[in-house]
Amino acid sequence: MRPAKRFLIRTYGCQMNAHDSDKVANLLCHEGFRAAETLRDADLLVINTCSIREKAEHRLYSDLGALRAWKRERPGRLLGVAGCVAQQEGDAILRRFGHVDLVFGTHNLRLVPTMVADAERGARRVETTESASLERFDLPERHPDHPGQAPGRAYVTVMEGCDMFCSFCVVPNTRGREISRPADAIVAEAESLAARGVRELTLLGQTVNAYGRHDLRRQRSEAAGTTPFASLLRRLAAIPGIARLRYTSPHPLFFDDELVRAHAELDALCPHVHLPVQSGSDAVLARMRRRHRASDYRRLVDRLRGARPDLALTTDLIVGFPGETDADFDATLGLVRDVGFVDSFSFKYSPRPHTRAAELEDRVPAPLAQERLEALQSVQRSLTLAAHRSRVGEQTEILIEGPSRRGGPQRSGRDPYHRVVNVTTPASEAPEPGRLVAVRLVEATPHSLIGELAREDLRADHPAAVKGGRGSADEPPRRVATGA
Ligand code: SAH
Ligand code: SF4
Ligand code: F3S
Repeated sequence: MRPAKRFLIRTYGCQMNAHDSDKVANLLCHEGFRAAETLRDADLLVINTCSIREKAEHRLYSDLGALRAWKRERPGRLLGVAGCVAQQEGDAILRRFGHVDLVFGTHNLRLVPTMVADAERGARRVETTESASLERFDLPERHPDHPGQAPGRAYVTVMEGCDMFCSFCVVPNTRGREISRPADAIVAEAESLAARGVRELTLLGQTVNAYGRHDLRRQRSEAAGTTPFASLLRRLAAIPGIARLRYTSPHPLFFDDELVRAHAELDALCPHVHLPVQSGSDAVLARMRRRHRASDYRRLVDRLRGARPDLALTTDLIVGFPGETDADFDATLGLVRDVGFVDSFSFKYSPRPHTRAAELEDRVPAPLAQERLEALQSVQRSLTLAAHRSRVGEQTEILIEGPSRRGGPQRSGRDPYHRVVNVTTPASEAPEPGRLVAVRLVEATPHSLIGELAREDLRADHPAAVKGGRGSADEPPRRVATGA
């Protein structure tokens, strides 16, 4: 028998992009391919690209340049480009790079097997057709040889696309129009994951809490099989074995009272929300076309904390957006301090093709944008450290991911607030990836927490006992996890 061909996937983008890589890997396993350990072993390399900032797009072009030698080294090797740059550039990539064999966009993952077969026969193809059909969610069950990347955890797509058209953002172009999967299909996938030992689900969508909103507005929810987002959360939280439920990324506009209440009522719903705000200035938010003001965001934070006082919030911020003044930037710093984000991702504005903001004048000079980025990150560092310090002494529960990045005998996992916690354990007792274990937090560092296994952990990995850790007599003390 011929040895199986080997594939490698490089992933550059967000969680949705990573989840797409996982779907492509699974499809390739169904075609008889196996994962390669290194680029040298690979017969097929797929680069799953991101276009969110210019830098991400350029990374593709420099990688492609370097891969000419890899292709030449062994005839028959195939090179594919996928993801948001593929969607945006389409056949321009094939024309510019003669050594690329296939290009497929964000709606065409299902075509990978046939495209690879065609490429093996020498036919180079591009597929970037947008599809408004649910077909793209019909993918095969997980192949036994494709274990998935993270024991115990899984992503589940609930909606795709974005109709918000924030003026700086390429995503509505690269991901197309919003489309929501039927709730029954989502629940069936979640049940099958739970049956295979998954304890934590992260629901994915570009504006995940806009799930089903168009169906609701057009009074076609029943036909489409969608429900309000909070009802979907309730169904998923009730699946036996699912101890933790997360969702990312929500848009501030789509938090109805039901969703806020879900944070008070659902034990499995984690007390962490990644809630992008982008700026604290109303003038900038208006030019960004975010459709909310800073005060709306603050009110939403109050509503969420009213429902769940220990809620940890993280966010995304852009500095140096066209026309941003010192006063605008100060408003951003003020909002970051007032909300007390436990962490944030901040970026310098990068003009993107076919976006409204790319036409705006009054660009902020690069050195000033850099200065603002550093000032913002310094404020965030102190908030993060203060939040971590406030939690020392607390007992929490972590889902083990694997060995710590710090090296040594430590194991690393995340707590319900999505903080990284490293625990030192004797090698013989190191908990397996995918297990939920109780830990006591003993030390805070700028990027993570350090914990010790709690000896009373014996009940921790029992599905009935881990429902979010709330409401039981021996639940960990609840604290505000934000340093606010
Ligand atoms: N869907 C999410 C965000 C997706 S992109 C949402 O609606 O919030 C992730 C983050 O990248 C954004 O929140 C924003 O902070 C940043 N980003 C997007 N476009 C950008 C650009 N042109 N320049 C700099 N940062 C950008
Ligand atoms: Fe981009 Fe705005 Fe859509 Fe988020 S909501 S993906 S920032 S357009
Ligand atoms: Fe990047 Fe596309 Fe995600 S542009 S951030 S990979 S949706």
